[in-house]
Amino acid sequence: MSRPPRLPPGFRLIALERCGSTNEEARRLAEEGAEEGTLVWAREQTAGRGRRGRKWRSPRGNLYLSLVLRPRAAPAEAACLGMVAAVAVGDALGAFMPPLTEVRFKWPNDVLVGGGKVGGVLLESGAQGPGRLAWVILGIGINIESCPDDTPFPATCLEREAGAKLELETVLEAVSRSLRRWLHIWREEGFQPAREAWLARAWKRGEVIEVRLEDETLAGLFEGLDASGALLLALENGRHRRVSAGDVMEASVRT
Ligand code: BTN
Repeated sequence: MSRPPRLPPGFRLIALERCGSTNEEARRLAEEGAEEGTLVWAREQTAGRGRRGRKWRSPRGNLYLSLVLRPRAAPAEAACLGMVAAVAVGDALGAFMPPLTEVRFKWPNDVLVGGGKVGGVLLESGAQGPGRLAWVILGIGINIESCPDDTPFPATCLEREAGAKLELETVLEAVSRSLRRWLHIWREEGFQPAREAWLARAWKRGEVIEVRLEDETLAGLFEGLDASGALLLALENGRHRRVSAGDVMEASVRT
């Protein structure tokens, strides 16, 4: 029997059996004036979306949620919220894992457990005139019971890594509490604490990675993040590149 999740103070739950995309639903509510803290949770999505225009397959059994925020920050300052959310998700999921199972962050917003992608964050925003945000939606998908087996980067699911059945409501509660905590830290202290937490568990930091951009693929040493969360790469030709959008992959073996 399922039970209603208990969300932390400041959160208002909209629970749906099914919808197209919780981000779409949250955007619609935000445009109608929904308050910060409105959290749309669906058991199933029929048009779930991922970063960079990709689909996010969303069968029942996994977690799909979108949180409405109304940050009093410039768009450039709020751009790091996807990474703040990834850190919050990573912290929350760590508690369900057996000791020694590693939680890592793959740039920008992916959460890896045991080497596979278990969750991702889709950040969307709407403007209210130039330089002013009307709303930000943090869309979070976490593979609990199942995961796709044909993704460019290998996926996994939490129950496989935990070796145990997990209740969706319990994971939703833990993620919400962690989001509340990390968003509070971000409001009070800015991005730096989340940036440090992210870097401490960054996947492949100090190693050669491949970064797929819109129209080119770069290979280089993953040096770190700048203050805004952009990825810093040292290329083989001795130059440095700052990347603000792309997909990080394992470097291909070159012969
Ligand atoms: C990624 O590409 O890694 C981000 C995936 C984000 C998926 C979540 S599921 C809940 C919310 N609704 C959506 O349509 N997408 C996000």
